[in-house]
Amino acid sequence: MSTKVDRWSELVPIMLATESGRANLASGMPLTSVRLTDSIAEAAARVVSSHEWRQAVGRYHGVLGNPELRDTIAAFFAPRVSSEAASSGRENVLITPGAQAAFRYVGEHVRRQSRRLLMFGPEYPEYGTPGVDSRMACSAIMPGSGPVFRYALPDVEIGQDIGAVVVSSPGNPTGKVLNPHEIHILATKCERAGAVLVIDGAYGNPWPGLNFTTAVAPPTAFGNNVISVGSFAKAGLAGERLGFIVGPKEWIDRFAVEQSSFQVFPPVFPQLLALELISNTDYSAILAHDIRAELARRQTAFRLVLATRLNVPYQVHMAEGGQYVWMRLPALTRFGAGELFEKLLGAGVVVAPGAVFFSEEHKETDEAWRSMRISLTAPAADLEYGAGRIAEVVNGLH
Ligand SMILES: Cc1ncc(COP(=O)(O)O)c(C=O)c1O
Repeated sequence: MSTKVDRWSELVPIMLATESGRANLASGMPLTSVRLTDSIAEAAARVVSSHEWRQAVGRYHGVLGNPELRDTIAAFFAPRVSSEAASSGRENVLITPGAQAAFRYVGEHVRRQSRRLLMFGPEYPEYGTPGVDSRMACSAIMPGSGPVFRYALPDVEIGQDIGAVVVSSPGNPTGKVLNPHEIHILATKCERAGAVLVIDGAYGNPWPGLNFTTAVAPPTAFGNNVISVGSFAKAGLAGERLGFIVGPKEWIDRFAVEQSSFQVFPPVFPQLLALELISNTDYSAILAHDIRAELARRQTAFRLVLATRLNVPYQVHMAEGGQYVWMRLPALTRFGAGELFEKLLGAGVVVAPGAVFFSEEHKETDEAWRSMRISLTAPAADLEYGAGRIAEVVNGLH
């Protein structure tokens, strides 16, 4: 492979060069809409002229985050919280400067305990914080109907060496949404090992609410050792760096200590903005109608191109949520994947090679190279162009 891309950092320069006219279907940039941006801009103007903002702007503020925002988030999660959770109020919520901050706190907690972090490949590459010993177990492939498949969590033992298990749901890159049964199995294993189960709902409910299927419950239930991480990034506020952790009080208190030791409290303004949006506007409805509905439409359109134009065996992960198509070519090898990536680049299309979502110990396997992640948030014309080129190039490889 002449353009060796098996890490996200190697993909970035290629994506940046894409300004030169290539269709960038690799980036995970969130989808937005004029209506969403307008609504945020109007809410921001109200916040700036509010009494609350004037009161808060010149002062340092609490490490846990805005109490009203914490109450409001807790209220959204309350109906989904399992009976094991002692209560569901502000004491169950920590506001963070983006979901990624939460993963740092989890990593730090695990590192201090001299334990490891466990995830299931393919997975979002940002959980393996530097300095944290992490391991990845690969998910098993369960065939569905036609080209559709679904990953099953591997049946691994979770031993005392594991301090935390982290899983994205809806999944980046796969689009898999954990169902209550899967959460239960993981939570039980984690509880036995004294590990915390971290469910990253950056694409999930309540915001941005990119769950396409109602057949499976949103991954928000938490027991004594389960926490949910949320983010406003895919809900119009990526640049504002706003996320949160919902979970039992003892975990919230623990991560609040991490947050204060990192000294990266969430800024006041985005918190007031989010509070205004979720309390006083039709924010959730706009997300559902503009963002989720558009992504669901793009999923269908992209899959249709593959179904009608690909004449080689292929698979796509079940579209349960999120903003990506995860396409798997069963016959592809590591060598072939390099050639495919090169040819796609030559045709003016950048995709994220599957290996980016596997850890070091798995990058050498063919399985890590059989798939690619296609982001559905590229401009519509690029997406249409890219879908056609992907079909042509893949057909030409065989
Ligand atoms: C699975 C997942 N979690 C979290 C994030 C980042 O969230 P934030 O921007 O709030 O740090 C992303 C961003 O792409 C993501 O894909």
